[in-house]
Amino acid sequence: MDFLWGTATSSHQVEGGNFNNDWWLWEKLGKIKTGDSSHPSCDHYHLYKKDFKLIKFLNNNSYRFSIEWSRIEPKDGEFDENEIQHYVDMLKELKKENIEPVLTLHHFTIPIWLYEKGGFLNEDFPQYFKRFVKKVVPYFKDYTKIWITINEPVVISVLAYIFGWWPPGEKNIKKAYKVARNLIFSHLEAYKIIKEEQKDSLVSIAHNMELFYPSKNFFLDKIVANYITNLYNFKFLDALIEGIIKRPFGNNEFISDLKNSIDFIGVNYYTRAFVEFHPFKIFNERKKKDAILTDFGYEYYPEGIYEILLSLKKYNRKILITENGIADREDKLRSDFLRKSIEGVKKAIHNGVEVFGYMYWSLMDNFEWIEGYSMKFGLYEVDFKTLERKPRKSAFVYKELCEKGI
Ligand code: FCB
Repeated sequence: MDFLWGTATSSHQVEGGNFNNDWWLWEKLGKIKTGDSSHPSCDHYHLYKKDFKLIKFLNNNSYRFSIEWSRIEPKDGEFDENEIQHYVDMLKELKKENIEPVLTLHHFTIPIWLYEKGGFLNEDFPQYFKRFVKKVVPYFKDYTKIWITINEPVVISVLAYIFGWWPPGEKNIKKAYKVARNLIFSHLEAYKIIKEEQKDSLVSIAHNMELFYPSKNFFLDKIVANYITNLYNFKFLDALIEGIIKRPFGNNEFISDLKNSIDFIGVNYYTRAFVEFHPFKIFNERKKKDAILTDFGYEYYPEGIYEILLSLKKYNRKILITENGIADREDKLRSDFLRKSIEGVKKAIHNGVEVFGYMYWSLMDNFEWIEGYSMKFGLYEVDFKTLERKPRKSAFVYKELCEKGI
């Protein structure tokens, strides 16, 4: 397989018209900081054919996108064949354009009926996910080989169940742990089904990874940084690779069929953070004084992708960069970001890390969760009134980098 050059999006962020999921409810509750509506967003649901031309223009041979569970299963156990067909049509169009899909089955949103049953916390969540996956895989398997079961399980559990920023807005570590555990099992169920249906498939999760450094050369800061690094970056991967779910306070569970339940590691990388010990909080975060910040307030640190990739070498797995991007409204940093990030990927490959693709987040500006449309990640700038897409300067840089190849 040629090295995959692509971009990534997710259904709720680009499609518009998703009125039947938990994020739509969240929006109605006024939880989006900007007051923006996810409808119609980029109307990718109707404009996907045109968008695939934008992908071709970038010299890309791949595209990562997600299917919307709440469209496909609008009611408990009832499936909408037309909506399944919509995604089959998208996949067929990609095939026609010679673009390799990376298909995400779950990217943050859940149908309202499931949300009302307790969502990710429901004991049977993995079974609901299994039923959904079992339904859709037979339709899609002729058109796609690379599958992401779940996007950023740790982010769901942290932002929705510890920080309380995302639906359902809980602040409860015990629940967060339960959600993470449920998502591990959901992945496992999906993994088994995809493998039964398609032996040569490549299946994984897309895992958000962040670099955590000690704020000072202080031993407690080092302990904190180490602890967070392991908890956030590696515990989940360890479970999927070693088959052991490590509970926060000992008492490990070995689940034999979890072992080796990913075929590659999907990495989403955005930034690094400096952390320090705090007597009353899990940790305190500090920015370096001279740090350049992206619009999101993250430190601009494209070099970190190399460090992350190297830290994954110990797993001896293929790696796909499933997301890497920058919120940069003025497009001042994005070209440099792309050059440095891709340089980092090349260096990692040179050092023996087996990376087989790079997906920039995102193809175009879109609905950035609680930030609404204020964060501009797109290679294409979107006018949300006219829905016109315009390539930013950095789009031409990415195009050139993709042409040069790895
Ligand atoms: C990632 C998410 C993606 C998008 C980017 C900016 O964590 O997977 O949906 O929000 O961040």
